[in-house]
Amino acid sequence: MNDLKGKKAVITGGNSGIGFATAKKFAELGAQVMITGRSADKVSSAAESLSVTGAVADVQDLSQIDNLVDQIKREFGTIDILFVNAGIFAPAPIGQISEEMFDQQMGINFKGAIFTIEKLLPVLNEGASIINLSSINAYTGMPMTAVYAASKAALNAYTRTAATELAPRKIRVNAVNPGPTETPIFEKTGMSQDELGGFAQALQANIPLKRFAQPDEIASLVSYLASDDAAFVTGAEFNIDGGANINPILAG
Ligand SMILES: NC(=O)c1ccc[n+]([C@@H]2O[C@H](COP(=O)([O-])OP(=O)(O)OC[C@H]3O[C@@H](n4cnc5c(N)ncnc54)[C@H](OP(=O)(O)O)[C@@H]3O)[C@@H](O)[C@H]2O)c1
Repeated sequence: MNDLKGKKAVITGGNSGIGFATAKKFAELGAQVMITGRSADKVSSAAESLSVTGAVADVQDLSQIDNLVDQIKREFGTIDILFVNAGIFAPAPIGQISEEMFDQQMGINFKGAIFTIEKLLPVLNEGASIINLSSINAYTGMPMTAVYAASKAALNAYTRTAATELAPRKIRVNAVNPGPTETPIFEKTGMSQDELGGFAQALQANIPLKRFAQPDEIASLVSYLASDDAAFVTGAEFNIDGGANINPILAG
């Protein structure tokens, strides 16, 4: 089931959270894995702990993505799986959206994702699988997330067109929309521990299954989409959110 033996995979933002858990799962399923990230220290310690290959590439800097492509050619030749996962969450209410926050969030979550795919296209094998890590925020009106939500909605729109255009190469392109998932992404917002605790409680109250996802639960879905078991799945989106996107007015 979800066998990845003989497949070569690149995971952006693989030193932490969902990317890290997916790298672990891909390797367990037999894939040869390269993880990327923007910090040399974090990438090398994560790569070492997983026994996978590390590559430093900030997706906001297109020349660093070019360097990543060179490294892929040197060390892997071509690849079968591209997990476009790198992303940030920078909440801000409407009225306090700065240009810097807009550029950074759209630059990493949307532009960074698109140019990762654009530049890695030449090293993708026929029949490859691209998985774009989006969010259920693409469909919610959650306060403070206007720009984050827009960056993910844009990625989902891109995913549909990419699936059509890349079908002649038998390349499948799908999007995964997680709900709240227990990763370091929330601590990186600069919220205090008290604020984070209150935020988590408020979110969980509205999730029918009453908890956050674990990163390895997202990794299991991504592994399915990466595998030949999903050979007829393309242009699709998968919510993995404990039922949050049902929009229950009362969550029970
Ligand atoms: N956690 C959730 O609740 C949740 C829900 C829905 C969707 N998502 C999405 O899931 C993806 C993974 O997030 P996560 O929750 O696993 O968070 P995370 O633990 O913070 O991991 C994000 C990864 O992306 C990397 N990254 C950030 N900016 C980058 C850049 N410019 N270039 C290259 N790598 C970069 C991070 O590197 P650093 O360690 O250097 O920051 C880290 O390795 C994101 O796209 C996020 O939007 C998360």
